[in-house]
Amino acid sequence: MYVCVCNGYRDGEIREVAESGVRCAREAYLTLGNGPCCGTCLPHAQGIVDAVHDDADRPAAENDPAQRPPTLLAAE
Ligand code: FES
Repeated sequence: MYVCVCNGYRDGEIREVAESGVRCAREAYLTLGNGPCCGTCLPHAQGIVDAVHDDADRPAAENDPAQRPPTLLAAE
């Protein structure tokens, strides 16, 4: 899906750049070739970058449902 119409950047491209260590949407754009133009896409692009790092920063046990401690079910 296109995230940035001005530059033609897709979500997958932004995700790949974030996975290489970039934590800022503007820096991701520069890595892809051009900085933002109108900037309306930056909040969404930053959300993609943040999601990549939220997953990467979370301990492995939190990412693996089998490793999570059991939760108590609420009593009716
Ligand atoms: S839509 Fe991305 S800079 Fe304009």
